[in-house]
Amino acid sequence: MLRWTGWIALAALALAAWTGVLLRFGIYQGMPDWAQNYTAVRHAHSHLMYFGWVTLGLMALIRHELPRWGGHPLGRAGRVQLAAGAFLALLSFPAFWANGYGLTQVGTRALPLGSMVAGLNVLVWYAFLAQYILATRRLAARPLPVQLWDWALALLVLSTAGLAGLVTLLARGTFHPLLQQLFLHLFLDLFAAGWFALALLGTVWSRLAPEGPLPERLPTGVLALALLPTFMLGMSPGVLTPAMFWVAAGANVLAAVLLGRHWLALYHRRHALPALHRLGLVAFGLHLAIAALLAWPGVWQWSAGTQLRVFFLHNYLLGWVSSVLLALLLQVWQPHALTGWAGRLMSGAWIAGTGVLLVTLAGLGLARLVLVPALLLFQIAAWVSLLPAGATLLALVLYTRRVVQARAAPALARV
Ligand code: HEM
Repeated sequence: MLRWTGWIALAALALAAWTGVLLRFGIYQGMPDWAQNYTAVRHAHSHLMYFGWVTLGLMALIRHELPRWGGHPLGRAGRVQLAAGAFLALLSFPAFWANGYGLTQVGTRALPLGSMVAGLNVLVWYAFLAQYILATRRLAARPLPVQLWDWALALLVLSTAGLAGLVTLLARGTFHPLLQQLFLHLFLDLFAAGWFALALLGTVWSRLAPEGPLPERLPTGVLALALLPTFMLGMSPGVLTPAMFWVAAGANVLAAVLLGRHWLALYHRRHALPALHRLGLVAFGLHLAIAALLAWPGVWQWSAGTQLRVFFLHNYLLGWVSSVLLALLLQVWQPHALTGWAGRLMSGAWIAGTGVLLVTLAGLGLARLVLVPALLLFQIAAWVSLLPAGATLLALVLYTRRVVQARAAPALARV
């Protein structure tokens, strides 16, 4: 079951990555007739990445790792939760494709399909949280990975308060730009900066445990508290007050310093990590450096007026989170995939493609400073995005072989 959930997460990555390619070509060639609403397709891309790829993949990995630390193995309720989670995460793609967070005519009624499916996804995450609490509440000690997962889930729950706020504003028909931005970024940015970062680090440390003793006193709770206000940096400078900015920027620097301790500890173990993971470390390091730069007076306001946001987002989500998650999923459920020639080809395409894509996105963000014409950069970004997208298909083939073999093995044993 967990292996299949991993497969669905990988399939979601492939579909969302090819949608990203469509968007990249659409930016300079125009979108095709069957995908006219650029903003809605972008929402379909980002929500499938968030719900179907990262969240589902992390939940499958956490469930897989829990028994190592004394937590319960997956029971019937866990299987139902993962199946519902997979179904609803995939459903977010068609739900957002037509109108994003807007209304879609279904029969005689106009329904906010995107918000409705996002709300249902939140319910299955709560079910995961309930099962996690049941599985871990009797642990005598809470080692580093479990502490990180605890805090990751706490931030996940807090981020969903943003969705509740958005729905309330919508239901009341209230127009309030500050609250609208606050709730939107509480949901999406805290979800990514909090849940993704801590759950991923917990899983990485859990996988590294057999290699030797885990480092002592790496930050967990204080890191979660520092990450909490950073979502405000995603808000538009037009609505953020100076006091809110300084709280968010200060917390961002503190979070970067604390995350830096994890980065350093992982850097010392870099030889035990696959190449995909090392690309993740580079992107993670860059992410921390950017966090420090944003606190410099004027830099955040200036960057908000450029395309740099797309670079920041993809450096974090594609360069760090996805590279490491891809490596983890393959290592857990297809242990030899990364060492064979096909695995090396897949890793090479992902690393080269993601590397050049990120450099090009940074160039587009600094368009006024670099001398390369923007159109050329858009073309490079579109063509080079074929590499990580192609790598996702190869990863899916490599992974599928393992799933099919695993299913065939008991059957063969009976012959
Ligand atoms: C092959 C890899 C990828 C490609 C080609 C790609 C492409 C794109 C493009 C073209 C956009 C719109 C940019 C704009 O409008 O200026 C975008 C936005 C976005 N992407 Fe990706 N992306 C990829 C991977 C990812 C991953 C792995 C994640 C998350 C795990 C992700 C999350 C997002 C988010 C959150 C946005 C912003 C959505 C919004 O503002 O509404 N992307 N991506």
